[in-house]
Amino acid sequence: MSSFIPVNEPLLNGNEKKYLNKCIKTGWISSEGPFVSQFEEQFSARVGKKYGIAVCNGSVAIDAAIAALGIGQGDEIIMPTFTIISCAAAVTRAGAVPVLVDCNPITWNMNVNEIESKITPRTKAIMVVHIYGLPVYMDSVVKIANKYGLKIIEDAAESHGQFYKNKPTGSFGDISTFSFYPNKHVTTGEGGMILTDDENLAEKCKSLRNLCFQPQRRFIHEELGWNFRMSNIQAALGVAQLERLDEFVSIKRNMGKKYTELLSDIDCIELPLAKTDYAENIYWVYGIVLKESVPFDAEEAMKKLTEKNIGTRPFFWPMHEQPVFHKMGLFNDESHPVAERLARRGFYIPSGLTLTEDQMEQVAAKLREIF
Ligand SMILES: Cc1ncc(COP(=O)(O)O)c(C=O)c1O
Repeated sequence: MSSFIPVNEPLLNGNEKKYLNKCIKTGWISSEGPFVSQFEEQFSARVGKKYGIAVCNGSVAIDAAIAALGIGQGDEIIMPTFTIISCAAAVTRAGAVPVLVDCNPITWNMNVNEIESKITPRTKAIMVVHIYGLPVYMDSVVKIANKYGLKIIEDAAESHGQFYKNKPTGSFGDISTFSFYPNKHVTTGEGGMILTDDENLAEKCKSLRNLCFQPQRRFIHEELGWNFRMSNIQAALGVAQLERLDEFVSIKRNMGKKYTELLSDIDCIELPLAKTDYAENIYWVYGIVLKESVPFDAEEAMKKLTEKNIGTRPFFWPMHEQPVFHKMGLFNDESHPVAERLARRGFYIPSGLTLTEDQMEQVAAKLREIF
């Protein structure tokens, strides 16, 4: 029997070891080492933003971004229902209310046509989340944000190296966030980044990341922050990975192309769009949606594939269907049918940077067997 094909594996064969050895040799292993600022500078330059604030993961980056914007009790943030819990969790933790919109069925990103009708006097921001490799349709988001004076929080966790009409994703937000979990194009093991052009927001994020210690009187606090710091060890990995971002994007695009060639004649599944008129897919993951003609759902399909040694992951489960939010009295009577269908019919197949053509062929063959 062929060996298990994992859903993701990072590629760490560049300068990672060399830079990690440097951390050990010099003793710079905490957040005070030089790789942290190097990673911040290089990553923010790559996205074209003035300030980068490295943090310990992509989830807390969103908490800090919301806090830095001063969004809190009773404020509303318009955001997609089809995303990771981190986004809505950060909003509710801040005391604010997530106001949800459904997905575009073709790109799986938030349906920007729903945003304007959700605006109320309490709306403070639009949170966009670029999902699975294609960006959100930003023209509409920017237009609406400008018209109503709303902030844009851009969660580009899955969107390293992506462009929207020649402008990097992560460069649209008043504040943008990234994750460097090992399934991302650039990984630091665990890690995240906040980007902004606004010096005040950057200072605020730096302070929030570091327990709001004060420069002059370190242990006297005017405000409460968190320890969200990234270590020099993590940043060392990040610097080595960032050197290869273009190569990684190209590997993923080749993966996307190859999978599409292998799978496009299977009539009962929907495949990710290779491109739109504003972006080319970077295939953070290669998602598949089962059409109605398939007599089983994504959960069953994933079970069948696991039995055949193929790793998979389910699509996100929508925020309006999360028990934790129902218990908080949120979203009880909401329905967002596109996201509900994606959650039940969608999953992704092995999509890591180490995946070989031979493995992709095996995945395709096993997919054929289960249909
Ligand atoms: C869109 C999105 N936002 C935020 C996160 C959270 O990032 P982290 O896992 O680094 O906390 C992820 C993680 O996959 C994500 O996909």
